Formats: sequence, structure tokens, C-alpha cells
Amino acid sequence: MRTTKTLGIVAAVGAAALMLSACSNGAGGSSEPAEPAAESTTTLRLALNQTEEHPSYIALANFGQRLSEATDGRYEIEVYANELLGAQAETLQFVSDGSVDLSVVSGTQLENLNPDFGVLNLPTVFSSIEHQMAVLSDETIVGELYASLEAQNTITVLGGLTQGERSVYTSRGPVQSPDDLAGQKLRVQESQLHIAMAEAMGAAATPLAFGELYGALQSGVVDAAENNAVSYLTQRHFEVAPHFTYTRHLIGTDFVIINSDRLAGMSDDDRAAFEKEWAATWAEHTDLWQTATDDAIEQATAGGATFYELESDAFAKALAPMVETFIQTDEQQALFAAIRASAE
Ligand code: GCU
Repeated sequence: MRTTKTLGIVAAVGAAALMLSACSNGAGGSSEPAEPAAESTTTLRLALNQTEEHPSYIALANFGQRLSEATDGRYEIEVYANELLGAQAETLQFVSDGSVDLSVVSGTQLENLNPDFGVLNLPTVFSSIEHQMAVLSDETIVGELYASLEAQNTITVLGGLTQGERSVYTSRGPVQSPDDLAGQKLRVQESQLHIAMAEAMGAAATPLAFGELYGALQSGVVDAAENNAVSYLTQRHFEVAPHFTYTRHLIGTDFVIINSDRLAGMSDDDRAAFEKEWAATWAEHTDLWQTATDDAIEQATAGGATFYELESDAFAKALAPMVETFIQTDEQQALFAAIRASAE
């Protein structure tokens, strides 16, 4: 029921957005009254599944402001938060067909279009957020991967934003080992790799869209989830799953994607400004992340959550074989090796 309603809203918003685009886009703006010196503004619509308190919203909204200044108002970005334009699996499709210009999507979504992205979704691939951000901005490591969706999907990956360390939280109690998760349904993102991960951690995996999770935890459709402390707070999951154990089983990646034709349609100057401001955006996001994490832990604790340190390496041992299982081709092996080499 909820899904149908969401899709209805998405369709309506999508249609409205298309009409708006037709009016405000410089390329097709014949209905705009001609003003001698002023050029028309192209509003890029960006879909996000986080709240307006989340560092991704803050950094991306600032991106839009700087872009507008840098292009003398030729481009601006409107960030639609809270899954207003749809869940990530849908907005991925909308960016591909051009009805939405940009979206933040988790690496798990891109893994469904090109399994090589799965390498970046593995436990242990990144040693720290600093290492992760160095990799995500290193053209020699990720350049081919980022361009790999252009021909088939009309999607260009601009770069990444950290999801920080992800840990397990439950409605039932702290978890120290896979035995503690036995019989519990753990929500995962829609990815084969993360389904296998949850199973290796001892749980029954339940893939669900992010926006469905609060209700699923509240109603007992799932018992547990895994995410960073920031989303744990901003999605208010701590209210319905107050036991957060620092499993730190992986450092996740969000990718910012753009419709490739939209990017190619920019003038050289505007594109240079866009890329410069994007680089400032992920840097700002990385700076905001640690403080946001500390604040989230403090606020969730004040709201009744308890954070537990992990006292055994049972989860790490259970997850170790995943690297071998999921790295299947020479390209994936080379990507993994390059990422690991850059950590040293
Ligand atoms: C994080 C991430 C989102 C993702 C979410 C999830 O919050 O930033 O992009 O959708 O995890 O677990 O689905």
C-alpha cells in the first residue's frame, strides 16, 4: 500500500518536474520572455533519501549555492530530501532516463548495474574514511568504473561521499557474535552482496528500501538493521531499535550520479565550475562527517539508545571469506588490489 502511494507521488512529482524543466531549462526555454542580459537558469533536480539535517543534504545544498554563484546563475541545484522523488532504486532509473538530473545512491544500487561496484561494498576494502575518500577521488583507481555506466545507462558517477562505518542495531538487545543474530531478521540494502553479508553475520536477510525501515522495525517486520550512527539518528531508528553495537563491519559509500547527457550539455566553463564545486562538496561532507557522527551518538543516547563496544572478533571472522566469494573476475581482483595497495 505504502509502495503504491509512494510510486503515485513519484509519478506526479516526476511529471511536474518534467514540466518545470521544460519551462526553466535554457535549452528549451522559448516560452521565457527575452531579457537582454540575463540568461535562463537550468535547475538541476537532485534526489536524496536523507533528511535535511544529514551532512549529505547540507553539503549538496551548499554545492547548489556555490554552483549558482560560479555560473552567474546559469545552473542551480534543488535538493529533494526524504525520498520525495522516490527510493534509490527508482531515482537511479530516473537519472538514467533523464527525468531527474542527479541522485545520491548507495554503492549497493550501482552493484546491480555493474557488479564491479561490489568491490567497494565489501567489508575490509577501506581501512579508514581518509583512505576511502582518497580512493574515491583517484582517477587512476576509479576512473573506468565511474564511466562504466555511461554507454548503457546514461549515468555518470561524479564521485563519492562517505557513509562512515556501518554497525548493527536491534530492537532486541546487543549482539556480540553471529549466534546473537540467529533467528533475527536484519534489514539490508537491495544487494546480493549485502544479503550474503547479513547471512554470514548470522541473521536472516531482509532487503528493503531505506524509507521503509522505520516502520519495519517498529512493526517487527524486521528485528535489526545496520547503518552509521548519523542515519541511525536522523531516521530516528534509535526510537525503535535502541541497541547499537559497534560492529563496524564496513565503511559504506554513497555515489553522486548525474545523467550523462545533462553533464555533456554544459559549456566547458560551466562544466569546469561544476567539477570544481563538486570537489569542494565531497571535501566539505568529509569534514562534516566526524562531528555529525559524534553528535548523533550523543543525541541518540539522550533519546534512549545504548551503544555497545564489540568484545570479540566473531563477526570479522565470519565475514572474512566474502572477499574471495565476491571477487570473481580479473578486473575485480585488480580493483581490489589497487585499493588495498593504496592503503599502505
Ligand atoms: C546510508 C546511506 C544511504 C543508504 C542507507 C541504507 O544512510 O547514506 O545512501 O540508502 O544507508 O541503508 O539504505
